[in-house]
Formats: sequence, C-alpha cells, structure tokens
Amino acid sequence: MTEPTAAADVVDELTTDHREATALLDELLTTTDPQTRRDMADTVITELVRHSVAEEMYVYPAMRDHLPDGEKAVEHDIEEHKELERTMKELEGCDAADPRFMALVHDLRGKLHHHAMDEETEQFPQLRARVPRDQLVKMREQVETAKKIAPTRAHPGAPNHELFHKLVGPGVGLMDRVRDKLTGRTTA
Ligand SMILES: [Fe+2]
Ligand SMILES: [Fe+2]
Repeated sequence: MTEPTAAADVVDELTTDHREATALLDELLTTTDPQTRRDMADTVITELVRHSVAEEMYVYPAMRDHLPDGEKAVEHDIEEHKELERTMKELEGCDAADPRFMALVHDLRGKLHHHAMDEETEQFPQLRARVPRDQLVKMREQVETAKKIAPTRAHPGAPNHELFHKLVGPGVGLMDRVRDKLTGRTTA
C-alpha cells in the first residue's frame, strides 16, 4: 500500500496521463457525432503532445543518465513519439465524418497502448529503482509546469473547435503549434 502522505512522483503523473488519454480514445471510439469526435480528437492530440514534450524535456534526459541502456531506450521512445505524432497529424487533418477518421483513432489507440506499456513496464520501474525519490518528485513538478505552458484546449480564444477548424482549416498544425509553444519555438 502506498503511504497516504507520500507525494506523487513523475511516474505517477505520467502513468495517469497514459490512462486518461487511453480512456478518452476509448470514449471517442464509441462516439458518433462528428463535432464531438472532432472536439475529443483535438483534446487528446493536445494532451498527448503536452505529455510527450514534457517527457522529452525532463524525463528522457534522466533516463539517458540513469538507465543502463538509457541512450537506446530514449532513442526507441522518441521514435515511438514520432510515430504517434504522424498518426495524430493525419487525424488532425481528417474530417470527423470521414470513414478514415475512426480507423486513425483506432490506430492511435494501439500505438499509444504499445508505447505506454513500454514505458510503464520497462523504463519507469527502472527510473524508480535508480533515481532518488526526491528527484522523482521534483521531476513531477517540472513536468506539471511544462504542461501548463501549452493550453489544454486547442484554441482557447475560439468559442468551439468547429469555429477553430473553420477559421484555420483542417491540418494546419494544431499539433505543431502545441509543440512549439512548449519548446519555446516561435510559430508563424
Ligand atoms: Fe513517451
Ligand atoms: Fe508517456
């Protein structure tokens, strides 16, 4: 049993993110209304990009330093992030009423499950075994702060995502913009 007073560490935080994104994708798979599908897909894309960027900024460097095969593990994980992003990019540009949309959601769910399992069964336990607990707690704070830099909603200024997509058109880089915002790159 976990001590009730123990502060959550970075592994708790990232594992919760995995659960939440997976649950959202499961819900999306049973949703029929195209507008709701669009909203949910944009939310899950935003959340997953925030999660991946925060991992790459604060967690993967620690894996590189502390895990016996750290360099290789990080390379593998970054490759999987790229695969996830390729699918998310297609999903971003796909009309929610298009039959391809649900196939992409399904594909994304499969890729996320695979990647989350790799992290949760391989890298995260090793991190916990090798990195001092206070550092793991500190990393959770860093990840939380990093995620706050990017907005939770794709376009908070717009009344809804339908308008967002009408204004900027599909496939204009919701994903890229979230990533740029987090990494401090400027977007035109
Ligand atoms: Fe990851
Ligand atoms: Fe992750």
